[in-house]
Amino acid sequence: MPRLKLGVLISGRGSNLAALIAASADPFYPAEVALVISNRDGAAGLAHAERANIPHAVLPHREPSDFAREAGALLRRSGVELVCLAGFMRILDAHFVESWRDRMVNIHPSLLPAFPGLHAQRQAIAAGVRFSGCTVHFVRAEVDSGPIIAQGIVPVCEGDDEEALSARILEVEHRLYPLAVKLIAEGRVKIAGGTVAVAGALAPELAVTNPAEERLARRFF
Ligand code: GAR
Repeated sequence: MPRLKLGVLISGRGSNLAALIAASADPFYPAEVALVISNRDGAAGLAHAERANIPHAVLPHREPSDFAREAGALLRRSGVELVCLAGFMRILDAHFVESWRDRMVNIHPSLLPAFPGLHAQRQAIAAGVRFSGCTVHFVRAEVDSGPIIAQGIVPVCEGDDEEALSARILEVEHRLYPLAVKLIAEGRVKIAGGTVAVAGALAPELAVTNPAEERLARRFF
């Protein structure tokens, strides 16, 4: 079975990129990272691509339209079928977003539609919510919006600061992103209107992610 080719866009640390690379090290994982693009020279995440021998490029453009043109050409040339934004902190050109409609996903560190934009974890603490988490969604023009594929939850604990909550959410991000990409690669994700249906989704009561990870879900049956 050919694996779904991913193009991962990063701006910084790249720990979600590393999680996708680690998942695709399993030959039975149905997707592989074919290309990494950073909009920042020296982004720490580029080292993950280097180590895994994955083609990577830096496109540090000021104008979103310049970035879109060059990134689009590279993604096409690499045969990328799904674009994954992984800590990509730039506004994307509207035409670029439209040209990858339903073929571009993003991970965000909150339970969207709560707390879109910057400092989602700080926003969650300020709002006093008891649970937060992360969301993988298809990308639409408005920042951190679009049909939701999967979410993961964590408690917000007494005394949490932004750093503590971010670390707790990040651990779930590293499981949720590979899970959501796997569901897409297996053809189980269908968008109807503004929402997503996942064929054969597991959602045991005590799972931390919904759909649940099969590996963890077994514990609950
Ligand atoms: C992650 O927490 C990701 O959810 C967030 O940036 C971090 C990137 O970390 N993305 C957003 O806030 C997008 N709106 P990483 O570079 O280690 O993957």
